Amino acid sequence: MNHSNITTAVLLLLYAATAQARDTDNNGFIDSLMAEMSIEEKIGQLNLPVGGDVVSGTAQAAVLDSLIMQGKIGGFFNVKGVDAVARFQRLAVEKGPHGIPLLVGADVVHGYETVFPIPLALSCSWDSTAIAEMARISAIEATADGVNWNYSPMVDICRDPRWGRIAEGSGEDPYLGSVLAQAYVHGYQGDGMRSDSSLMACVKHYALYGAAEGGRDYNGVDMSRECMFNYYMPPYKAAADAGVGSVMTSFNLINGQHATASEWLINGVLRNDWDFDGFVVTDYGSIDELPIMGVADKEDAAAVTLRAGTDMDMVTGRYLNDLKGALERGLVTEKMIDDACRRILIAKQRLGLFDDPYKYCKPERLAKDMYTPRHRKIARDIAAETFVLLKNDKHLLPLQKKGRIALIGPLANAANNMSGTWSGYCKPENHKSLLDAFRDALGTDAELLYAQGSNIYYDETTQRNCDWGRSIARGNDDEMHRQAIEIANNADIIICALGESAEMSGESSSRAEITIPDTQRDLLKQLYATGKPVILLLFTGRPLVLDWEDNHIPAILNVWFGGSEAADAIADVVFGEKVPSGKLTTTWPRSIGQIPLYYNHLPSSHPDFDSTQFNPYRSNYIDVSNEPLYPFGYGCSYTTFAYSKPYISTDRLAKGGAISLSIDVSNAGDYDGYEIVQLYINDPVARIARPVKELKSYKRVFIPKGETVNVSFEIDSDMLKYYDNELKYGYDSGEFRVMVGPDSKDLQSLIFYAE
Ligand code: BGC
Repeated sequence: MNHSNITTAVLLLLYAATAQARDTDNNGFIDSLMAEMSIEEKIGQLNLPVGGDVVSGTAQAAVLDSLIMQGKIGGFFNVKGVDAVARFQRLAVEKGPHGIPLLVGADVVHGYETVFPIPLALSCSWDSTAIAEMARISAIEATADGVNWNYSPMVDICRDPRWGRIAEGSGEDPYLGSVLAQAYVHGYQGDGMRSDSSLMACVKHYALYGAAEGGRDYNGVDMSRECMFNYYMPPYKAAADAGVGSVMTSFNLINGQHATASEWLINGVLRNDWDFDGFVVTDYGSIDELPIMGVADKEDAAAVTLRAGTDMDMVTGRYLNDLKGALERGLVTEKMIDDACRRILIAKQRLGLFDDPYKYCKPERLAKDMYTPRHRKIARDIAAETFVLLKNDKHLLPLQKKGRIALIGPLANAANNMSGTWSGYCKPENHKSLLDAFRDALGTDAELLYAQGSNIYYDETTQRNCDWGRSIARGNDDEMHRQAIEIANNADIIICALGESAEMSGESSSRAEITIPDTQRDLLKQLYATGKPVILLLFTGRPLVLDWEDNHIPAILNVWFGGSEAADAIADVVFGEKVPSGKLTTTWPRSIGQIPLYYNHLPSSHPDFDSTQFNPYRSNYIDVSNEPLYPFGYGCSYTTFAYSKPYISTDRLAKGGAISLSIDVSNAGDYDGYEIVQLYINDPVARIARPVKELKSYKRVFIPKGETVNVSFEIDSDMLKYYDNELKYGYDSGEFRVMVGPDSKDLQSLIFYAE
């Protein structure tokens, strides 16, 4: 990306600084502090109440005041505003026992007041530098408002688009998910958590939350260990390797254990195997869920959770109220409480809070750092990188600014929906709707007609269920359809802004029917029937089933939820100021019945080699092909890229060595553009069956029109490693297939042999 003033070199410095900060932990200081603390005060550090309601901006001051002065909390979250935070911090430092400063948490998931695209969209940029920069800006803004601890990144791998929280992660691939997890952590934590804009990251939701059965939020997971470690665990581990300061456990069961109370998962895998040395917090209210989910009695739930290695209790107050009794009953030891307390104090020390408890409470930073023109410009540029052009027959896009353009759809004039889920710190009243942005972009060059066209759903209750305070005005669907057709008939071209509203994805937003909702689809069909050219701008937080749309609508640009600057960014791409380059990081099914459908699947018995028709006694469906509608890694551009034949330096990979693969990629079209060149590997025969292909590397390259760029990749034996049934990590020597191309389907392959 060119707009970035954080270069890769600077990022490398940030990486090194994170490691350095760990080395400077002064445990002598923490030891002396703890020597003076009573057991009640130590337990107090493990307690994390919610501080208020971000949406209404209210802080529960009275409740927090008293907890703080008694030393009964380690931190709080959901308090908005540097003055409110400073007041609580002052109370802790001046009135609390031992003056221990507080952690101040928030969900700054894709921006603070400047909002960037939702994480699933961000992942489609495949641009780790952009993601690190968005995280850095989020950190600058959040810390200017008093926050020092961020509940992000969410790195849960997801293969089921019915799960609404797929919107919050980086898609289905463990390699890309790991690269991006590290970019988030380094961006948030900045210079090793030392500056006053360093935000401690919290990777979540450990573990496997994205594998909820049936895509239904909070549902359990039953999974083989080799599946976990090969496909779901890598991004959590990558975040731990990057020095993430904290980890949040997940709500789900894993093979019958609760993730929050699993000693194997937390003390075992996370601490012992991965050397994670930060602290672990539960998700919202999890300890109270243990009895409901059948894994602990109510009175033992706190003890079971602490024993597993979970240090901090979000919201239930169970640690505060039950741990002392558990200690007396012999259910936990004093050392367990000490260890948890020490980890939390070390986190505060790493943030520099003992040196300066008010380092995040400098109100003068608000004017300097919040929602600045620079931040907004970068957010606008990054948003354009995340859009995925799904089809563009006859180069319908970009549009020329002329004639009569009809902008139609319930998302066209919905500024309050542009920022997407988890954007509680922004000010939607400052955002533009698509209609505003199109008016600004077109000026007097073209005539812009507008109609809302439909509701989100025909059924009012269904629509209200998912508007969470961001309502889109309702009207009579028949009448709205009629008005839309009327203006469409007067236009040269129709642009539809349809899809999901902002909160139809995110937490508690699972869907069983992942199509464009009923009334909007009917509207689209009627607009198509006018015979005018139709462009679909698709708003969504998840892959949708678009079979009819793909068959009929000539141009589809998926714009996700692009953040506070999304409307201008969409106009930039629609009118050709910018060229789309995003590629999907999830597989898009053609039918809901195909789910789960993901590109890195294992081979099946009776494989179906011919996907054009039903083939008896093959592994296929009678009624729908096995093929996705859009494969992982797919996305078009306004320009076209031509791939030459790839070649490798040698077809023998020595143990510990590397070989290189090169390919020429030419920009054969009329626009300069970015291309994301992808490299996959398959091990045809191994100790356990391996996926048909796995992403192992990629390059995002800028290629001016008419030019050719040589793209080369290094392949080493680490890329061939996997976990077998006994969780042994390694690879098997022999033949491998390496594949390269523009997406996970359109690939050229070569063979090499690894010693
Ligand atoms: C979510 C977490 C979030 C937490 C605090 C929970 O409901 O699962 O992702 O960080 O609330 O807001």
